[in-house]
Amino acid sequence: MSTTATQASPSDSNLSTDPNWWRQAAVYQIYPRSFADSNGDGIGNLKGITAKVPYLKTLGVDAVWLSPFYPSALADGGYDVDDYRNVDPKIGTLEDFDEMAGALHGAGIKLIVDIVPNHSSNRHEWFQEALASPRGSAARDRYIFRDGLGENGELPPSDWDSVFGGPAWERITEPDGTPGQWYMHIFAKEQPDFNWDNPEVREDFLTTLRFWSDRGVDGFRIDVAHALTKNLEGTLPTKADLEARSHGTDGFVDGSHPFWDRDEVHEIYAEWRKVFNEYNPPRTAVAEAWVHADRRARYASPEGLGQAFNFDLLQADFDPTQFRRIITKNLAEAAASGASSTWVFSNHDVVRHATRYGLPAAAEAEGGELMAGKAGKQWLLDGGRQEDVNVELGLRRARAATLLMLALPGSAYLYQGEELGLQEVGSEIPDSARQDPAFFRNKGVDVGRDGCRVPLPWKTGGTSFGFGDGGAHLPQPEWFSKYAVEAQDGVEGSTLELYRAALKLRRRLQTDETLEWLETGNPDVVHFRRPGGWHTVTNFGTGPVALPEGSVVVSSSALEDGKLPGATTAWLVES
Ligand code: NOJ
Repeated sequence: MSTTATQASPSDSNLSTDPNWWRQAAVYQIYPRSFADSNGDGIGNLKGITAKVPYLKTLGVDAVWLSPFYPSALADGGYDVDDYRNVDPKIGTLEDFDEMAGALHGAGIKLIVDIVPNHSSNRHEWFQEALASPRGSAARDRYIFRDGLGENGELPPSDWDSVFGGPAWERITEPDGTPGQWYMHIFAKEQPDFNWDNPEVREDFLTTLRFWSDRGVDGFRIDVAHALTKNLEGTLPTKADLEARSHGTDGFVDGSHPFWDRDEVHEIYAEWRKVFNEYNPPRTAVAEAWVHADRRARYASPEGLGQAFNFDLLQADFDPTQFRRIITKNLAEAAASGASSTWVFSNHDVVRHATRYGLPAAAEAEGGELMAGKAGKQWLLDGGRQEDVNVELGLRRARAATLLMLALPGSAYLYQGEELGLQEVGSEIPDSARQDPAFFRNKGVDVGRDGCRVPLPWKTGGTSFGFGDGGAHLPQPEWFSKYAVEAQDGVEGSTLELYRAALKLRRRLQTDETLEWLETGNPDVVHFRRPGGWHTVTNFGTGPVALPEGSVVVSSSALEDGKLPGATTAWLVES
């Protein structure tokens, strides 16, 4: 349970009090256990983050988003929360949290934390109480317990699969030792789903939002925001019934799926918005909601969470037609909802984009949207060998794509290590070292997400490449050395220096949110203009192309005789 500690004082910071600070923020995602380890136990911690605040400041990000740092047995990398209002003792204390928040704020960097409202961990005191309490009790009502089907309740209430594979229901043993009820878990069995019809659950999350807001947290990233409310009345539909009407995990377009993207979920976010608005500036939120594109705006409405992730670019190929269509569509949607758009290429759940873009030509030749995302999973399944990746091309394209993204109106979400051009770790992680439940529950179908969660290389050599004085909780391959911060710091043309330059220049773009497409006459080249005579040109092709008039202020690869080479983006200002 929580203890009290000195709260970070917003007054000792040079933070913007602009209520719209989030609209065009560059947000850097930290996966705390893999960022920096201050005590040599192999697990990154909050003091490690505090020590790296100067690095974050010189990188030039506006905000940091922390993936879960709460007490957890790590059945799902911390997305299995034991206590929502505390810090995992393996990675720090509430005092460390306050110190970190104060250091970030002192550097002018806002702080966003992850909230995981769909499920707790099975070690949460409420779930333990539910297990120890009888059927029909108030304690069971905070979760989703059902009697099983079959003569003796030996069959799960439905044939649904969990997202990580295997059944979405787990049978418990009743306190008297007899086989008992089943509880629902959309994810791992260590992640029981809450019952959001229960007022205590609702109230407790309001308390949690206030708890972190009072400690100076500026915003929240809402995990699986589209799953909270459920309709599990009567006979449950079969998996086949659901698949016939679903768009992947997107739910139904009419909001009638039993658990994905139901309309009532927005009543919860309307309540949350009132809490956010109790603060000055109001706390912000971004929904992780894998919903049909037509329904995304509901999550991003100003009466709700305010912003929602758009994963469209993350799922696209390095392809000018796809990029242009996705950007146009998302800017229009954001404008209609009153939100600003979000852009992201990498996070802790997907194969890093520097690797995706360099995957074997065969995978790409088939083309088609979503190919990049699927190809990453397939590459891991095929053995995840670095020698099968065109590392140079992958990085070149990743730099071009990122420079394009950083010029777009809206918020850009960056994932730790992408500023180093870091590649995904594949076959170098032996099965014995894997941690992701997706690997264990879905053997042979999914290798999981450990490859993008390997601790960062800060130094070119030494123990765990400067991550800490001990080991690293996931093995770092030898080739991490050349991506280390130490190898890139101050080195002209390095990916780190490219990100620093772009993020610094980007501040000049954070004015109005308009974008004007300009015709290039070349289907491989996209060109847009932002206010203030700012031009972005990306050459998705292979041969060099002429640049428009203007002074080049930054480019993702060196120009060739004044021309823009293939897989390169340049920013120009009108002279
Ligand atoms: C989405 C998170 O990004 C992912 O890492 C996690 O496994 C699931 N939600 C379940 O919490």
